[in-house]
Amino acid sequence: MREVAIIGVGMNDRWGELWEKSLRDLYVEAALRAIDDAGVDHIDSMYVACMSSGLFTGQEHVSSLLADYLGVAPIPAVRVESACASGGNALRLGWLEVASGASDLVLVGGVEKMTDVDGSQATLALAAASDFEWEAFNGVTFPGLYAMMARRHMHEFGTTPEQLAAASVKNHHNGTMNPVAQFQMEITVETVLNSVLVADPLHILDCSPVTDGAAAVILCPADQAKKFNSQPVKIAASAVATDAMALHSRESLVTIGSAKAAAEKAYKQAGVGPGEIDLAEVHDCFTISEICLVEDLGFTEKGKGGEFTESGATALDGRIPVNTSGGLKSKGHPVGATGVAQAIEVYKQLRGEAGKRQVKGAKRGLCHNMGGSGGTSAVHILEVM
Ligand code: COA
Repeated sequence: MREVAIIGVGMNDRWGELWEKSLRDLYVEAALRAIDDAGVDHIDSMYVACMSSGLFTGQEHVSSLLADYLGVAPIPAVRVESACASGGNALRLGWLEVASGASDLVLVGGVEKMTDVDGSQATLALAAASDFEWEAFNGVTFPGLYAMMARRHMHEFGTTPEQLAAASVKNHHNGTMNPVAQFQMEITVETVLNSVLVADPLHILDCSPVTDGAAAVILCPADQAKKFNSQPVKIAASAVATDAMALHSRESLVTIGSAKAAAEKAYKQAGVGPGEIDLAEVHDCFTISEICLVEDLGFTEKGKGGEFTESGATALDGRIPVNTSGGLKSKGHPVGATGVAQAIEVYKQLRGEAGKRQVKGAKRGLCHNMGGSGGTSAVHILEVM
């Protein structure tokens, strides 16, 4: 297997409710920026991460559509769907294609156009990523599923609503320093606790929003990377794992088994442990998921995620800065694009290009991208070269 590097990245200027832009506009904008950033004159192959273009926009078969609009047809293009983990899974497939020697220049893009439908349709489209027969069919939405996980975490470990809110306050603070972020405003623990209750104990400010956006990266063999880019970033590990979709089929409501399994493989592949990670982008679709993930990725002990977050250990100047981009909570969560954008944040941090949210001396970062309530997790570890 060859080593693989990221040599170019691109996103839209700002994520959010982008009514003036269609799915294809969003994707082509991000992909062209990545191609331009890498300085390549062609790509060999493309992966498009997109969860539910059919339910959100009526459009399927988006891989060919986007290859055509990007002007790269007839190269092979494939859509990757694993709910909110589509981006992480696409990145792994792009990595495998370059690592195997099958292609030299691969574009991995992610896109979701979510705001052309109303809130109830968006909730139903997202609910298709749960075990539909057992969960969505019986009326449970994603905020409902994560609320059950939060209640159980509170019951088992004494986690408090204030500790959940601390993750949101931190991520909103980081998002004020990220021009791409959908919500660039400071909030406090009180603002979170006084915001409208969505599914007890989760308030609206515990939830990631509905977002339009796209993100893209260009991959190439690490030994060719410096031809294109003076500061490429190596993909030191790429791992994906799955778990039972339905919450009731899990051994525990408070352990995200797919995250643990993918992280274990990724740490082994990179030859490092959680203590050697300088920053992490984790899938904070709800505040409780960030609390569980800092535990399951090994940054703190099981049950201590709330306390760890409240102590400031995951702040920009903390022991392990988490979600320096603002995370899904503040940057936004256009589901298919999220996993790709996480890699872009770590790429920028490792190149020292993260502006006011820069983590000093960052050399190695981890991205964790999750589908549904944990049915899929993708973990990537990126390193300076
Ligand atoms: N955080 C902060 N503000 C939010 C927000 C969020 N998560 N969601 C909406 N808002 C704001 C909107 O910008 C709007 O502000 P405005 O009045 O100033 O324009 C206001 O709240 C109302 O927005 P609206 O879209 O009507 O909210 P909603 O009640 O329809 O949706 C949620 C709120 C939380 C239900 C929705 O964002 C949601 O479903 N989030 C979870 C998404 C999800 O499940 N993703 C997959 C994860 S696995």
